[in-house]
Amino acid sequence: MRTRVAIVGAGPAGLLLSHLLEAEGVESVVLETRTQEYVEARIRAGILEQSTVDLLVQNGLGDRLLAEGDPHRGIHLQWPQERHHLDFVDLIGRTVTVYGQTEVQKDLGQAREAAGQPILYGIGDTGVHDVESDHPYVTFTDADGKRRRLDADVVVGCDGSFGPSRGAVPPAARQTWERTYPYAWLGVLAAVAPSTDELIYARHPDGFALHSMRSADVSRFYLQVPAGTDIAAWPDDRIWEALSTRLNLDGWELATGAITEKSVLPMRSFVQQPMRHGRLFLAGDAAHIVPPTGAKGLNLAVADVALLAPALAGLLVRGDHRAADAYSDTALRRVWRCTHFSWWMTTMLHTGDDPFDAQLQLSQLRWVAGSEAAARGLAENYAGMPIGL
Ligand code: FAD
Ligand code: DHB
Repeated sequence: MRTRVAIVGAGPAGLLLSHLLEAEGVESVVLETRTQEYVEARIRAGILEQSTVDLLVQNGLGDRLLAEGDPHRGIHLQWPQERHHLDFVDLIGRTVTVYGQTEVQKDLGQAREAAGQPILYGIGDTGVHDVESDHPYVTFTDADGKRRRLDADVVVGCDGSFGPSRGAVPPAARQTWERTYPYAWLGVLAAVAPSTDELIYARHPDGFALHSMRSADVSRFYLQVPAGTDIAAWPDDRIWEALSTRLNLDGWELATGAITEKSVLPMRSFVQQPMRHGRLFLAGDAAHIVPPTGAKGLNLAVADVALLAPALAGLLVRGDHRAADAYSDTALRRVWRCTHFSWWMTTMLHTGDDPFDAQLQLSQLRWVAGSEAAARGLAENYAGMPIGL
């Protein structure tokens, strides 16, 4: 089998890249280990930056997003007995939109299906080869158990944090940075109307809590738990109790309901550089991972492929290699901005056992909530820079 761009991974990065490449007249094949049902049901991120929304709309992917997405003006920042609203529209003139990654994934899947895009789900044993030559290829076992080979002009690794693509860059040619955190998130989906108009990020001595949402009758919550926590230690009653305590505010009440899904999500920061080696390009979680506190992971994956698609079109259609050559450096500027912001939000809101750190965190929260200059900094990062910056 032969194509121009072999895309490894059918997450948001892989599917959006194939969509944008098609608009540029470049054909691609997408390879994915999981089934389509599995990738569309994975509950992950929920917040889209304005530039992500704009990009999806401009590329014909906005019908359901505009009808069902919930634009938010800002967020609430909370610590015991204080809740402050940061209004991004007033501060920087930008919004964010609540729209689950599951829905983005379904919209992308449908658009790809309508375009007759070849996506091979259920593959295994993916291998990325000869990326330093002009004839890279990917080997895999298809869903029927047959060994196959996909030849391409370019391979793009969109295979997330555990895929093989980033390892296809030789160790001597790559540099990595990593930060682990002593905590994780317990993520909870509940069949109950949100008790808040906009997201609440709460720092509490027992640990961080986040009240998010998916729709008028589905709420999403996260609780800081120690790294390596066993979900069995968190029966539903304990979850509701912890959420009520950590989100507590006089005169406000948390509505509870049936918990429909819960899982523990590990947290880390990771960046691999460069995001291109020969004819292999990396995009999304394949190249970088952020802790989820700033809601950046999905948005960063979108920003990468928004840069990469025109760069590959330049390279493969017009023989202009400049944007492809600049891709890694350009993308990494945004990656490091988001890596810093996600680390900053994480370390401001998660609690540990150091009393000095606790005072610094509270001081920082008071500063962000009380100073327009500081609030604008948070807003600019949270709502996201325009793509390309
Ligand atoms: P992915 O969505 O991970 O897609 C990669 C795809 O590659 C997957 O479909 C995978 O099955 C496939 N793949 C892997 N290996 C191979 C292989 N060998 N061959 C072929 N295909 C392969 N971000 C937030 O902002 N907020 C959140 O609450 C949040 N929660 C998250 C929860 C979890 C459990 C995870 C893993 C991530 C979460 N994120 C969150 C981050 C966000 O979801 C990611 O940043 C986003 O999915 C990145 O998109 P991607 O396409 O780069 O990677
Ligand atoms: C959600 C996830 C995040 O990481 C975040 O910062 C805000 C909201 C969510 O899943 O709704």
